[in-house]
Amino acid sequence: MEYKIARIPGDGIGPEISEEAVRVLNRIGELYGHTFTCAEVDAGGIAIDKYGDPLPEEQLEICRKSDAVLLAAVGGEKWDDLPVDKRPEKGLLRLRGGLGLFANLRPAIIYSELKAACPLKDEIVGDNLDILILRELTGDVYFGERGGDDITYSSDLMNYHDYEVERIARLAFESARKRDKKVTSVDKANVLATSRLWRNTVNRVAKDYPDIELNHMYVDNAAMQLVRNPRQFDVVVTGNLFGDILTDEASMITGSIGMLPSASLGSTKLGMYEPIHGSAPDIAGTGKANPIAMILSCAMMLRYSFDLETEAQAIEAAVKAVLKNGARTADIAAGGKSISTREMSDLILAELK
Ligand code: NAI
Ligand code: MG
Repeated sequence: MEYKIARIPGDGIGPEISEEAVRVLNRIGELYGHTFTCAEVDAGGIAIDKYGDPLPEEQLEICRKSDAVLLAAVGGEKWDDLPVDKRPEKGLLRLRGGLGLFANLRPAIIYSELKAACPLKDEIVGDNLDILILRELTGDVYFGERGGDDITYSSDLMNYHDYEVERIARLAFESARKRDKKVTSVDKANVLATSRLWRNTVNRVAKDYPDIELNHMYVDNAAMQLVRNPRQFDVVVTGNLFGDILTDEASMITGSIGMLPSASLGSTKLGMYEPIHGSAPDIAGTGKANPIAMILSCAMMLRYSFDLETEAQAIEAAVKAVLKNGARTADIAAGGKSISTREMSDLILAELK
């Protein structure tokens, strides 16, 4: 079968890791008889330089017409002084909004081979820690009305509709069904009206999932519990702002930002897949970037947009195998011997047979 992918290499290390992702996809295609065709899309800093816009409409249109979007990373110092609405990140917000991607799924997994990179004590982490965080992506304070002059007074309106909460809550319960059957909903219902709506809606949806255990947690407590006792979590579901912060925290307990993929999903099969890290300008062009987060993002794409579960697991198994054999890029080498971006993906390709 043929799958159309809109590929956004972006800025910094983006093009380097994106290239490795394509090699892995081509290998999967050869092995399992699929064709992945990539249309290159300009977004982020490169698009600002070319068109004066971080995501021109015709570039977004290419994404809309694809089966999935594969994004590396955007941004860099060069564009840091632009106003918020003109910056590379605006391109990302427009992609999420324009494609109706309301849920960001971030697995936080600790590979036993990389336990040394985890900043938490062994007895806290235990074996095979595997948390799935779902962050709402198209509502909340990031999309509320803005006001003020940025100098003497400013405001950002936090707002949610029940349907926005309901659809991500359902996704959380459905995901939990395929995992350890537990959902933790995170809010600030002791203070915020939007959080009371959040909690009421999650409780209502929960009635359709009697087989799933649900608990509620305030966001400040959740931030603490993630480092105090991360093993209590299976699926965590939360709003856009809280999710932004908690997902970064959860990724750090796994030890390396270069390892973790993410998926952004909507109500159709068209999803966007990207590593959780940024464009890492400090190591761009040095061959030091870890391609694993990008490669595992491809696995999520195969799983969620293309329903190719076997192929997704083949990629994940290949990554585990090379880690087991001791291959390390600099970010996960803990000061020991490290290999380059290309060498790492060569090893992963060699495991795919
Ligand atoms: P970053 O994630 O790019 O880098 C943080 C640190 O992690 C750096 O030391 C970097 O070298 C390292 N790192 C990141 N990815 C790595 C990889 N694959 N392998 C090895 N080391 C890796 O975050 P930072 O420095 O805050 O942001 C840099 C630029 O990226 C900014 O312009 C920012 O706006 C943008 N950014 C873009 C995102 C996106 O495209 N989704 C997300 C986060 C930041
Ligand atoms: Mg973030």
